[in-house]
Amino acid sequence: MMSAKRSAQIAIAGIVAAFPLMPTAVSAASVEENAQICAGCHGENGVPQAKTTPIIWGQNEGYLYLQLRDYKSGARKNEQMSSVVAGLEKADFKALASHFAGLKWPSMNFPSPPKDVTKVALTAIGSVGCTSCHLDQFQGDGTTARLAGQQPEYLFDTMTAFRDGSRANNPGMSDLMKAVQPADLKSIAEYLASLQVVGGGQ
Ligand code: HEC
Ligand code: HEC
Repeated sequence: MMSAKRSAQIAIAGIVAAFPLMPTAVSAASVEENAQICAGCHGENGVPQAKTTPIIWGQNEGYLYLQLRDYKSGARKNEQMSSVVAGLEKADFKALASHFAGLKWPSMNFPSPPKDVTKVALTAIGSVGCTSCHLDQFQGDGTTARLAGQQPEYLFDTMTAFRDGSRANNPGMSDLMKAVQPADLKSIAEYLASLQVVGGGQ
């Protein structure tokens, strides 16, 4: 006959086999552990490894939270980010948003573009009125993104994605981007990248 202990072990083994994720679900990872995953692409020191990966250190908290939520729901699509957020929940997103918003934006020192490029950018920005939402010097606030000092290649890609609808998590931004000439996007990206970040890195 089977001992009580042995049959209990078999029962537990059966439960674990039926719910293979149970042990990790019981002890959720800390924000520091989750942030280690992010460092693999967004950088150990806030400088992303790839030019098309956005800086998230020092980004506005509400904005960071909404993006993580949107990647999880599929409203914003990106293969790399979808697999990162697949195992995370709302509480993790809140903790990560607060964690990264509290870090110092890295100093990238993107150069100021030549005068003619700046002029194209300022004309487009003025006609749409981007600073009415992104605020003076493009620091943003709350759920509106900070654009100053962001990687120019990423800014160009994401504005293009808003424009062609492949980034569809904010229809208002897509409509605004359709009012901008595609030929002006590179100038806008270079101009925004060169702006100083208030409270940014050394
Ligand atoms: C495998 C690489 C990779 C990892 C790991 C990764 N990211 Fe990302 N992340 C990206 C890329 C690439 C983008 C740009 C995707 C796009 O264009 O939508 C991005 C975009 C984002 C954005 C949107 C930023 C913006 O300005 O709109 C946030 C927020 C973000 N990541 C947070 C995180 C957090 C938090 C983690 C860790 C839990 C993480 N990422 C891990 C590659 C990665
Ligand atoms: C009516 C308010 C409003 C106006 C005007 C506006 N934006 Fe935005 N913008 C937003 C909001 C809100 C977001 C965050 C969208 C989201 O949650 O995905 C955003 C996001 C962005 C992003 C994505 C940032 C990132 O890190 O991925 C870029 C780039 C951007 N805006 C550029 C511009 C430019 C350039 C203009 C002017 C041509 C402009 N915006 C005008 C509200 C606005």
